[in-house]
Amino acid sequence: MSGTSASKVHVIDHPLVQHKLSLMRSKDTSTSNFRNLLREISMLLAYEVCRDLPTTKVRIETPISPMMAPMLDGKKTVIVSILRAGNGILDGMLQILPSARVGHIGLYRDPTTMQAVEYFYKVPDGMEERDAILVDPMLATGNSAVAAVTKLKSSNPRSIKFVSLLACPEGIEVLHAAHPDVPVYTAAVDERLNEKSYIVPGLGDAGDRLFGTK
Ligand code: URA
Repeated sequence: MSGTSASKVHVIDHPLVQHKLSLMRSKDTSTSNFRNLLREISMLLAYEVCRDLPTTKVRIETPISPMMAPMLDGKKTVIVSILRAGNGILDGMLQILPSARVGHIGLYRDPTTMQAVEYFYKVPDGMEERDAILVDPMLATGNSAVAAVTKLKSSNPRSIKFVSLLACPEGIEVLHAAHPDVPVYTAAVDERLNEKSYIVPGLGDAGDRLFGTK
C-alpha cells in the first residue's frame, strides 16, 4: 500500500492474483480463459476491497444456541461498472457480493482528444446510503476514471472505491489529482503509458480480449 491516507493505492500482491494476472497478460491466452481469469481475480480483489465494510451484530439461532452474529451493515453495496470492460470485473464481484446493486456508466474515449465522453448513466436509488465500488480493468490515462468518479459523486454515495486490474503511475496521478479521496485497488501498477495510451507492459485492450472483438 502507498500514498497518503486520503489517496491510497492498494496493490493486491497475493500470489494467486499475481499468477492469474500473468496468465491474463500473455498474448496466447484465449478469450474464454481471459474471461474466466478476470472473473476469478475479481473475486479475490472483492475480498480485499470489502475488508473494511462495517458489520453489525444480529441475533440468530444456531442449531445449538442463540448468538449475536456479525452481518454486513447498511444498505446494499453498489458495484458500478464502467462500460464495457468493467463488466468483466462486475461478474466476478457479484459472485462474492450476490446481493449487491449494480450501476453502469458508459464512456467512450474520443480518439483525437483522448477525453472521456459519457453516453449512459444508471445507478440504483438511495445512493446516499450506499458504498460504491467503481470498476474498470485498466486505469490508463485516468480520464475515464476521473469522469466516472465525478459523475458518480453527483449521486452522493457514502463512499467510493476505484478497482482496476492494472494501473499505471500516470493514471493514478490523474485520478488522485482530481479525486484524492478515492482509494485505488489494483493487482499491479505497471511501468508507464505508451504513445497510444496503452499500459506497458499491460495486457493489450481489455475490452477486446474480454469480448473477443479483435
Ligand atoms: N485500455 C485498455 O484496454 N488497455 C490499455 O492498455 C489501456 C487502456
